[in-house]
Amino acid sequence: MSGLVSLVGAGPGDPGLLTIRAAQALAAAELVLHDALVPRELLALAPRARHFFVGKRAGRPGIRQESIQRLLVSQARAGRRVVRLKAGDPFVFGRGGEEALALARAGVPFEVIPGLSSALAAPALAGIPVTHRGLASGFTVLSGHDPAAWLPVVEALPPGAVTLVFLMALGARADIATRLLGRGWPAATPAAVLLAASTPSSARWTGTLAELGSAALPAGDAPGTLVVGQVAALAAEIGPESQAAPARASAR
Ligand SMILES: C[S@@+](CC[C@H](N)C(=O)[O-])C[C@H]1O[C@@H](n2cnc3c(N)ncnc32)[C@H](O)[C@@H]1O
Repeated sequence: MSGLVSLVGAGPGDPGLLTIRAAQALAAAELVLHDALVPRELLALAPRARHFFVGKRAGRPGIRQESIQRLLVSQARAGRRVVRLKAGDPFVFGRGGEEALALARAGVPFEVIPGLSSALAAPALAGIPVTHRGLASGFTVLSGHDPAAWLPVVEALPPGAVTLVFLMALGARADIATRLLGRGWPAATPAAVLLAASTPSSARWTGTLAELGSAALPAGDAPGTLVVGQVAALAAEIGPESQAAPARASAR
């Protein structure tokens, strides 16, 4: 008898931003394997399940990716309903594609339940539309983790052509700002850093590209999303402070 593996996106953190399908998969789960950024409240939605943390903790490497994939396959083959719960969307910088490939190649039944990526949710909650008529006709999402990944893209884009959204880029913000300024992006281009979006500890910095490198951020290891582009200036007018109370609570 074969079980089922659901690769589930948990959204940016606020349980209210989970999809109904994700909540249904959690309710039916017998085993949940989750990452570091998944809040504890979401695990409460899987009351029948055993929960295992398989992410990285405080900079230390977590369980090897191959071991996670073997566990998914073996648990499904043992007939279990397994939820692999990942922050945001499972296919955005989350290695969800590798897990789906491993399951498909092992012939194990699986499904993908998309989640709201922080690449979209963090700007939206801060009042930053990633596209806006007259300001940005598109957006590019990049990982700041390794310059080999983002640098060629940044160097190929005409200055100001699209909104840039960087994940895993807090430590690289000075380098990113220097490269963009060197490419001819105006120093006054609006920029934002959105920390722990949708959670009670969320925080925001807004300024210019010239100021981004030296932006003073709260201490701690909150995850953060960087936005560079004219649209970041809209946060002043349509950010959480201008929104109705329920939206303010969610954006916090
Ligand atoms: C390994 S990536 C996973 C991205 C995830 N799959 C997604 O779609 O949001 C982790 C990065 O996502 C971003 N991130 C995740 N949660 C966030 C949040 N609540 N607020 C801001 N950025 C967040 C940060 O850039 C963090 O370093």
